[in-house]
Amino acid sequence: MSMIPRVKGTQDFIDCAIFNFIVDQFAQHVSLYHFQQIATPVLEHVELFKRSLGQHTDVVSKEMFIVQSANESQEQICLRPEATAATVRAFVENNPTTPWKVYSYGPMFRYERPQKGRFRQFHQINLEVIGAQSISQDVQIITMLDRFFHEKLKLNNYSLQINFLGTVADRANYLKTLKSFLTSAQGICATCTQRATTNPLRIFDCKVEECQKIYQKAPHIADHLSTESKQEWEQLKQELMLLSISFVYNPKLVRGLDYYNKTVFEFASENLGAQNAFCGGGRYDQLAKELGAREDQPSIGAAIGIERLMLLLEPIRDTLPIAQSRPLYVMMPLSQAQQPLALLLADTLHAANLVVDTLLDGDSLKSMMRKANKMGAVYALILGDQEQQNKTVVVKNMMTGEQHELAQVDLATFLKR
Ligand code: HAM
Repeated sequence: MSMIPRVKGTQDFIDCAIFNFIVDQFAQHVSLYHFQQIATPVLEHVELFKRSLGQHTDVVSKEMFIVQSANESQEQICLRPEATAATVRAFVENNPTTPWKVYSYGPMFRYERPQKGRFRQFHQINLEVIGAQSISQDVQIITMLDRFFHEKLKLNNYSLQINFLGTVADRANYLKTLKSFLTSAQGICATCTQRATTNPLRIFDCKVEECQKIYQKAPHIADHLSTESKQEWEQLKQELMLLSISFVYNPKLVRGLDYYNKTVFEFASENLGAQNAFCGGGRYDQLAKELGAREDQPSIGAAIGIERLMLLLEPIRDTLPIAQSRPLYVMMPLSQAQQPLALLLADTLHAANLVVDTLLDGDSLKSMMRKANKMGAVYALILGDQEQQNKTVVVKNMMTGEQHELAQVDLATFLKR
C-alpha cells in the first residue's frame, strides 16, 4: 500500500532534544522573573481572532484553519493562529490578579506558503504581562528575552529591532500623514494600493523593491508622536541602554497584527534567510477591553518561534548543556521461557529508577547484541535457561566485552554503583 505522507507545511520531530531544551531553559529562565505557566486550548472561536488581530490582517483574511465539526454546528471554530488573543480571553474569563505574568507553549496554525522556517503547523513559546502600564515593563521583557537568547542559549548572531507605534490617537494622526504621502506616491504595487486604504501601516512589510525604494522617503511614526508618547519612546531607549541591551531602531517595523500600540520589537537573525524573525512582540493596551474586560488592561508580550530557534541552535548543539541521556541497560531473555522472568527483573530495575530496555521479540543473542550496541547500551543483561535455574543473570560490559554472572537479587545494587 502507498504511504500517506504528512500534511504539507507540518513536520515530525524525530529528535526532541533541542525542542525540550529550549522549553526547559525558558521555563527556568522566566521563573526568575516570576512568570507562571498556563495552557489554553488549540481550538478557539474564529471571532476571537477577527476581533483581536484584525479582519484585514493576512492571518485572519487568508491563513485561518477553520474546523468543520461533524454535527454541522453553527459555531465557527478554528485552530489558533497565535496565543495572545487566547491568553487575553483566558484572562477575561478567569479574572486573575494583575499584573498577570504568564507563558505557554504549543502548536499554532497558519495557512502560509511553506518555506525554510515557515510552517503551517509551528510552535511558539508565548509570554504575556497583562495589566502592566509602565514602559519599564517593556524594557524588562525585552531584557529578559535578550538574556535568554544570549546567555542561556549562547546565541550571538542576531539583532534586536525596535519601533514605537504610539497610542491609538498618535497612530490616527500619523495615518493621515502616511495616507497623503501614499496618495502622492507614484508606482506602488497593487497590494500596497489596497493596503493604503485597508491597513496602511502594513505597506512597510511589502517585499517589492520598487515599493521599498519609495518608502525610504515615507514619514516615520516615531517622528509623529504626542509629547507623552515621545517621552515613553525616549524612556524605552534609555532604559534599554542602561541595561546594555543592543538594539536597532527600525522605523519600518510595524508587525503583522492589529492589536499593537507603542513598543514593538523583533529578534532576527540573518542565518535564517527570508523568514528571519525568531521572536516578535509588543505592547497592546486596548485588547483586553476589546475582548470584554471591564477595565483597561495595558499589556505587553512576545512569542518565540521554536522551529526558527531550533534552526539557529542546531549548528551549535555541541556547545549547549543538553542533558546527557542516562546509562542504558538492555535485558535479553534467550528464549520464550525467560520472558516472564525478564519482565519481572526489568520491573524491579525500573522501580530502582534505572533505564532498562527489554528485548522481547525472541531474537538470537547475536542480533540482540547488535541491537544493544546500536542503542548505546552500557551493559547487556542476559537471561538463559541456566541463569533462570540458578537465579542469576549474565552482565556483559558493552565497552570492554567482559562479562560475569551475578545473583539476580544483587543486580540493581550492582548497576547503581
Ligand atoms: P508573530 O510575529 O506572528 O507574533 O509570531 C511570533 C513568532 O512566531 C515569529 O517571529 C516566528 O518566529 C514564529 N512564526 C510565526 N509564523 C510562523 C510560521 N508560519 N512558521 C514558523 N514560525 C512562525 C505573534 O504571534 C504574537 N502573538 C506575539 C505576541 C505575543 N505579541 C504580544 N504577545
